[in-house]
Amino acid sequence: MTSSRGVTLIGAGTQGTRLAYMWSRCGRPVHVVDKDPKQLERSAKEIERLRKEWPLSSLPGERGGNTDWGKATFIQPEKLESAIQQSWLAIECVPESRPLKKSIIQQLDGLAPPDVIIASNSSSYTISEILKGLTLRNADRFASIHSYWPPETTPVEIMGAETTRPEIIERLMKESTAHGFQPFHVRRSSTGYIYNRIWAAIKRETLLALDEQVATPAEVDALFKAVLKTPKGPCEQMDTVGLDVVLAIEEHYAEERPELPTAPRDLLKKMIADGKLGVKSGEGFFTQDK
Ligand SMILES: NC(=O)c1ccc[n+]([C@@H]2O[C@H](COP(=O)([O-])OP(=O)(O)OC[C@H]3O[C@@H](n4cnc5c(N)ncnc54)[C@H](O)[C@@H]3O)[C@@H](O)[C@H]2O)c1
Repeated sequence: MTSSRGVTLIGAGTQGTRLAYMWSRCGRPVHVVDKDPKQLERSAKEIERLRKEWPLSSLPGERGGNTDWGKATFIQPEKLESAIQQSWLAIECVPESRPLKKSIIQQLDGLAPPDVIIASNSSSYTISEILKGLTLRNADRFASIHSYWPPETTPVEIMGAETTRPEIIERLMKESTAHGFQPFHVRRSSTGYIYNRIWAAIKRETLLALDEQVATPAEVDALFKAVLKTPKGPCEQMDTVGLDVVLAIEEHYAEERPELPTAPRDLLKKMIADGKLGVKSGEGFFTQDK
């Protein structure tokens, strides 16, 4: 962990910004890249805010003995190449579109020296799926590194493709720990990694139970909260995320696993057609307080 090379984040949205905060915790630089200058401005302000709210001493991680933040620079894609030359890791955090992710990964492979690790933060596409069909210079240096909501929620799931060198996973596990993440190694390629995959099953079975009128949304949530001592039940969680997003995620699982039941998706489609999208439309499983 002696390298002074930093981390390049491509996409200065919600995740790119939070990851830049995290990866600058050991005093090493971060390069935040976005095609939208307004996003770069917002990101710079948000990183400052996070640094005040969550000072260096507030999270675990050895921080390489450093007592100061790494320098954050905010750049447009034209300067990507020089940022990558000064990095040991590049993480793409662009929106969740498979063609976009593929084109960014292809571009990064062309620009980055062979020892730079290239990772994707995609929630739904495995790194194997993103790499499929691409002609790459160095196919053995790719991984997924999937975050939640750092610094509040620090787990990251780290997953390789069939071609990934084992040392890459080891390095990501070690470095992410030092920077205050809680890393988990996903040992086989898995759509939804570990947590989201299991969470998808809970959502799916909740929707099935509701469709069969086994219980009401309020009853499902009350039972979950009472048993698991969790602040939110699955219906409230789905309302928060948005039922259209829940449907898109479930459709992706169903694409890969045609044996999955259709009733959960049918129920979501009906609710969406009735304008019930959850918090964002004012009504989902529950009516939102205005
Ligand atoms: N939001 C979450 O809670 C969350 C959690 C885990 C993983 N993810 C994943 O992280 C990724 C990013 O999500 P987000 O919520 O941060 O998205 P976002 O929409 O907040 O940010 C995406 C950013 O990418 C920029 N961008 C788009 N095309 C670009 C390009 N060609 N070059 C450079 N920048 C470009 C956009 O201007 C935007 O600022 C997605 O793959 C998502 O699945 C999100």
